[in-house]
Amino acid sequence: MPQDIYDKIMMVAKRRGFIYPSFEIYGGIAGFYDYGPLGSQLKNNVENLWRRFYLLQDNCVEISTPTITLYEVLKASGHVEEFTDLTVDCSRCKRSYKVEDIIEKGTPIEEAVKENKILCPTCKTTLQDAHPVNLMFSTTIGIGEGRKAFLRPETAQGIFTNFHLLYQYRRKNLPFGVVQIGRGYRNEISPRQGTLRQREFSMAEAEVFFDPQDKTHPLFDTIKEKQLFLFDNEKEMKVSVADAVKNKIINNQALAYYVYLTQEFLLTAGVDPKKFRFRKHAANELAHYATECWDAELYSERFGWVECVGIADRSAYDLNAHIESSSVDMYAIRPFEQPKEVLMKKVVPKMNMLGPRFGGKAGKIKEQLDQMDAATIKKVTVTIDGEILEVPKDCYDIVEVREKQTGEKFVPHVIEPSYGIDRVLYFILEHNYVEEKKKDEEYTILKLNPKVAPIKTGVFPLINDENLIRIAKKLDTDLRAAGISTFYDESGTIGRRYARMDEVGTPFCITVDHDSLNDTQVTVRHRDTTKQERIKIQDILPYMRDKISL
Ligand code: ATP
Ligand code: GLY
Repeated sequence: MPQDIYDKIMMVAKRRGFIYPSFEIYGGIAGFYDYGPLGSQLKNNVENLWRRFYLLQDNCVEISTPTITLYEVLKASGHVEEFTDLTVDCSRCKRSYKVEDIIEKGTPIEEAVKENKILCPTCKTTLQDAHPVNLMFSTTIGIGEGRKAFLRPETAQGIFTNFHLLYQYRRKNLPFGVVQIGRGYRNEISPRQGTLRQREFSMAEAEVFFDPQDKTHPLFDTIKEKQLFLFDNEKEMKVSVADAVKNKIINNQALAYYVYLTQEFLLTAGVDPKKFRFRKHAANELAHYATECWDAELYSERFGWVECVGIADRSAYDLNAHIESSSVDMYAIRPFEQPKEVLMKKVVPKMNMLGPRFGGKAGKIKEQLDQMDAATIKKVTVTIDGEILEVPKDCYDIVEVREKQTGEKFVPHVIEPSYGIDRVLYFILEHNYVEEKKKDEEYTILKLNPKVAPIKTGVFPLINDENLIRIAKKLDTDLRAAGISTFYDESGTIGRRYARMDEVGTPFCITVDHDSLNDTQVTVRHRDTTKQERIKIQDILPYMRDKISL
């Protein structure tokens, strides 16, 4: 295959320390990649930019939960049954394929399966017996029997299982959002798309909780005139956010707001607006938890349109599932205008029964019983320090009490923007990769937005002169101390040094020359225009801060 842009990017990425195939000295394995020094810095910068959008602009809070997740959580969330890919196996070449990847483009999966239209891409045998395969990696916590668990396929469940605590933390005000950035794991059937399809990858997810009777967003008015580029699987359209909601192209304001926020983030991070669209999921491709979903798709020369972010309306699916299966009260309260007296059921733990039966664990069991929702309680099991205990009916009463209530209970709805960070990173590289010819030599420039560029500025003494080196080194140290990443380089011609910085996306280079000794100025060279300007050394810090908007 001729070298396409993907090959070229992956070559530069490896050579210059962005991305390495994992475990390469042992032959490597599909679906795993390492980020090298520059890749890690780019990733940090993209994640921190994401935090700016979601934590600062949108006022969400961030949490961090384990990547190993109990079986019970993913059973309740539907992942044990539903998180599958339809797969076929080729008995001749002993390979397995995801049906979606190998059927002819445009053929509906059901039709391909029913009409035996699936051919092995390697040996062209007709493949039959398509069957769902669960994508989660399973594990056991503890030795011996241990507890069944999975590596999490999404970060979202760590947020849902804490909803009641987070709701308290946010002083019971909706809407509020909670984000998590971390690893997700999927045992992809045949990961053949480089960093776009990995078996361990980074996700940035926001779960934003709304009252289902009020799926509006407080900042909606500030963005409603902005344009979105939408594709509903039939036609492409450019519409304002307000019109998308008014004409029911997007079902509610809250979902539309996060579609827009995703667009703003991706464009700020540096994806090409001409290679960007939102595509609506058809009814038969919605995930088991979603009522509506829009994918932010980015165009790749090799892979075509690729989903990088899914923005889903998960309705009350997950919280309902966890209420049902844990019996923990995970409701929100909608205040009444006037408090009302209502008859309600309450769980009342009986310490005189719990104590003798469970000894030192009775107190912890009482705490869990206190949190349970009497309306949905069935067989009561609690988990104390990893041990699952069944609490018999004679250890608690369910009583009806008259209570003054200030509001009614409801299960919040969730809007979820779910970003695959690795895919966003790849597209930042592909969309900003520019080839030019310089003096008949191939010259590559990575036109990264300064906000995400791993190195913000090169710092060079023009020649190997100790007076220039002294000033350049001090400038380099001062810049780094001020939080501006640099690359100090005194080797090779100045042209070579510029080229090395251009290739890794460094937006500025600062050169100290002989004039600097007299006029205390240095030359700042701009990557994209190659224009140069003289700046006073004492002004360099504020100048750079302004340019890279730190
Ligand atoms: P696909 O259809 O490509 O498998 P998906 O619909 O399963 O993706 P989601 O479940 O919506 O993806 O996951 C949220 C985001 O996580 C995706 O938009 C994508 O950016 C990212 N993602 C999903 N699977 C992978 C993977 N195997 N490697 C890297 N990123 C992934
Ligand atoms: N949290 C979105 C997904 O995993 O599909």
